[in-house]
Amino acid sequence: MIKKCLFPVAGYGTRFLPATKSMPKEMLPVVNKPLVQYGVEEAIEAGMNTISFVTGRGKRAITDHFDISYELEHQIAGTGKEAYLEGIRDVLERGIFTMVRQREMNGLGHAILTGEPLIGGEAFGVVLSDDLCITEGDGVLAQMADLYKQFRCSIVAIQEVPAEDTPKYGIIAGEQLKEGLYRVDDMVEKPQPEEAPSNLGIIGRYILTPDIFEILRTTPAGKNGEIQLTDALLTQSRQGCVMAYKFRGRRFDCGSVPGFVEATNYVYEHIYAEPE
Ligand code: G1P
Repeated sequence: MIKKCLFPVAGYGTRFLPATKSMPKEMLPVVNKPLVQYGVEEAIEAGMNTISFVTGRGKRAITDHFDISYELEHQIAGTGKEAYLEGIRDVLERGIFTMVRQREMNGLGHAILTGEPLIGGEAFGVVLSDDLCITEGDGVLAQMADLYKQFRCSIVAIQEVPAEDTPKYGIIAGEQLKEGLYRVDDMVEKPQPEEAPSNLGIIGRYILTPDIFEILRTTPAGKNGEIQLTDALLTQSRQGCVMAYKFRGRRFDCGSVPGFVEATNYVYEHIYAEPE
């Protein structure tokens, strides 16, 4: 059973400036709920109720969001507006929230390594909250946690991506074990289309075994001079096993303005319901 989930949330959100000048990009609302809360709910639904944020300067709004707001509670107690707080109250009751601050930014691999003291020696989930995943039935992390029970190794979520988009993703290649499940034997961070080993791109959901920390400690800087999780996972796949899983559901790239708008329209049309 995986109990912890790491959320690297220290990144800048440059593509959403000026909205993200003094507000974390993870707090941008998709309709009425901040992006990060979708990911946190997905983790809790998968049984990972310890939510660990790797946070940074200017990100206090995230940790405040996952805490009681006494003033607000007091203001609306007993009024018809209480229904608006039900969702977040439920998250607060079910989750335990921990955080560590990342003082310098040096890639996703470095962010994960910064989270080590919050995770320790157990397998854990990772959510990149820019990727909003919407499913019918089990969420993506729950699907992956199920697979973990069977394989006991790191798992990355993947989807087919258009050839011209490979420079936006970690791309995997591997042996297909069954429909939608691969044993990874190659992985490249953000390759040009002609160098991509396949069209299978990693999206922001991972289950990692804790030996990843030791590997990350000795992983040299890769793409863009940063410590890349993709490179550490390639090492892990060679030492043991890494699986890639084509998840059931839809993923929206909320790290880009068009993807964010698409997610907003989708959630408004299919999911959002105003409290009575
Ligand atoms: C990160 C990873 C990349 C992965 C992507 C998924 O990149 O480095 O391998 O495909 O997340 O969203 P980022 O989008 O943070 O640049």
